[in-house]
Amino acid sequence: MTRFLVTGASGLLGLNFALAVDGKKHQVTGVANTAPMLWATFKNVQLELTQPGVVDEMIKEHQPEVVIHCAAMANVDACENNPAQARLVNAELPGTIAAACKRHRVRLVHISTDAVFDGKKGDYSEEEPPHPLSVYASTKLEGERAVLAANPDALVARVNFYGWSAAGNRSLAENFVRNLEAGKEMMGFTDVIFCPMNILDLSSVLVEAAELDIRGVYHMVGAQAMSKFQFGVVLAEQFGFDTRLIKPVSVNDSGLKAARSPNLSLSTEKIVKALGHELPDFHEGVKKFFDQYRRGYPQYIMSLNG
Ligand SMILES: NC(=O)c1ccc[n+]([C@@H]2O[C@H](COP(=O)([O-])OP(=O)(O)OC[C@H]3O[C@@H](n4cnc5c(N)ncnc54)[C@H](OP(=O)(O)O)[C@@H]3O)[C@@H](O)[C@H]2O)c1
Repeated sequence: MTRFLVTGASGLLGLNFALAVDGKKHQVTGVANTAPMLWATFKNVQLELTQPGVVDEMIKEHQPEVVIHCAAMANVDACENNPAQARLVNAELPGTIAAACKRHRVRLVHISTDAVFDGKKGDYSEEEPPHPLSVYASTKLEGERAVLAANPDALVARVNFYGWSAAGNRSLAENFVRNLEAGKEMMGFTDVIFCPMNILDLSSVLVEAAELDIRGVYHMVGAQAMSKFQFGVVLAEQFGFDTRLIKPVSVNDSGLKAARSPNLSLSTEKIVKALGHELPDFHEGVKKFFDQYRRGYPQYIMSLNG
């Protein structure tokens, strides 16, 4: 049994991690901020983590063995509009958490992003120099560096994932499903490549990685690269929606404010070697996402914050 403390427990990754991992084998304490998880089954608290002294108190009080730091300002356009807040949450807070984990001898898994690369090349390894294009991406890269400077034993996981959220609209996959089930058209970028991983698969990989003695940067994205258009088509096929509703378009015609990296495929060789097995299959992940939908998980997760 491992005692996990998960920050960002009201967000897409933190909440799904907490729901999937808390139970008989492991124990999870979740930390939310403005959106308390009133009806969640795991123990959870509400904290503004950027306030002085709060991180130290949190670790002293909850005594975790592993902290999974998911809390972030993860909305790319919001970061563009408020760079000071993005820097505080994405760059400074991770350093504070890393230093506190080191002081209290707690293992840290810090969640970062594939977006630290500019996407000109693709298939990036951990050795390649990042080159962020947006405020979100550059503050996340600063966060990685602050973590490893304060605590070289920390694990920095660059991820990309999809799943169901309490807000109902936090992942691209949810947005595809919501629109397609209502018979609405969706744009699918043909020139943005990524490696999406089902959030349940990512949660298992994170638990496994936390239990291994590995440190430094690891790419923990899906095993298969595809365009956002292709991803939408696979989802539509799995859910039985009309694939013709997904319109192939270029990201250059989208009107998005922050620059997006075109090819964010990452090499996962390093984590595969560390785990000693392949990463979960992409199509099996999509089936799990559909299975949750059939069982009413989207409604369940949306009911947790009351
Ligand atoms: N979403 C993606 O597709 C994606 C892709 C690659 C990497 N990532 C990374 O994955 C991680 C999780 O992302 P996500 O999509 O799950 O994010 P999210 O849904 O936007 O959730 C962000 C979480 O951070 C919490 N938070 C923000 N500021 C806080 C503060 N000052 N004090 C305490 N908590 C604070 C929020 O709490 P409240 O809501 O309660 O205020 C929320 O629980 C992030 O590190 C992100 O950069 C995400």
